[in-house]
Amino acid sequence: MWREAESSVAPDASLRGDLLMRFQDRVVLITGAGSPIGIGRQVALAFAREGARVVASDVDVPAAEETVAMLARDGGQGIVVGCDVSDTEQVNRMVRIALETYPGGIDILVNNAGVARRKTFADMTDEEWNFTVDINLGGAYRCTRAVLPGMLRRGRGRIISISSLMGCRWGWPQHAHYSASKAGIEGMTRALAVELGPYGITVNAVAPGFVWTAQSTSREHSLGPEGLKVVEGYIPLRRIGAPEDIADVVLFFASDAARYVTGQVLLVDGGVTLGDLSPAFAHLAGVR
Ligand SMILES: NC(=O)c1ccc[n+]([C@@H]2O[C@H](COP(=O)([O-])OP(=O)(O)OC[C@H]3O[C@@H](n4cnc5c(N)ncnc54)[C@H](O)[C@@H]3O)[C@@H](O)[C@H]2O)c1
Repeated sequence: MWREAESSVAPDASLRGDLLMRFQDRVVLITGAGSPIGIGRQVALAFAREGARVVASDVDVPAAEETVAMLARDGGQGIVVGCDVSDTEQVNRMVRIALETYPGGIDILVNNAGVARRKTFADMTDEEWNFTVDINLGGAYRCTRAVLPGMLRRGRGRIISISSLMGCRWGWPQHAHYSASKAGIEGMTRALAVELGPYGITVNAVAPGFVWTAQSTSREHSLGPEGLKVVEGYIPLRRIGAPEDIADVVLFFASDAARYVTGQVLLVDGGVTLGDLSPAFAHLAGVR
């Protein structure tokens, strides 16, 4: 029977293919996997549900421990490794620990750790610029470099980075460092896709639109809950994204279904870039 299409956070399990175990015994390393309502935690839980062994990493170790406790309660497997992705030694140590635990190698890397800090460009200090760029872009660079030797040796691998609508389509005022770091991820994704394709490694990025997480609900550094509510009405699918919406697309890029896809950036934004958001921005900026 015809059923009206719905945009829902929890789609029909029969459509989702929840019974598949697409990542049985694959090892996936996820950075920024701790945040309680963040994208990284949902990515970790989704991989674990489909049989992956998860290396949940975060600078916030207790938060990552909670992620692993959650996936273990569901019968999943994983370990926690504390790591600040802006520190090369910590990144290399994280990969070393992951490989000591799972000597078969890391199959999938998800570069998810990221920060957004509000700052007008004219007042930006080098420290502020470097802080954001060194986590968002530098973190993806360091983690990718650290997992590559194993992927190159085995002739396979999946690298998926989290970009942003604000890096690939829109400018975000007072967030030039953020937008630049995310645009950088996209350039790196395309360059690496060409460089690593001959070795059986695919490199892709997911660019979320507005997703309800700690980052976007920050009133100080982003839209805050009230701002998100205003934007919601202008999104064609009429809701702010959930971390699960992003996790599902990350898993697609990691899955066999995406075996011939590389160098791509997929916007996952409920269609917001196709509509007209200017009234929402005017409202948020107090412009009549
Ligand atoms: N929420 C959105 O609307 C949105 C939109 C586009 C892109 N993104 C991106 O999605 C990714 C996940 O963000 P989120 O929205 O879940 O935010 P979040 O703040 O909930 O999660 C970010 C996670 O990264 C971790 N982290 C921060 N600095 C780190 C560091 N130096 N080393 C390791 N981990 C670190 C944090 O502890 C946290 O667990 C980020 O890259 C973000 O830029 C989010």
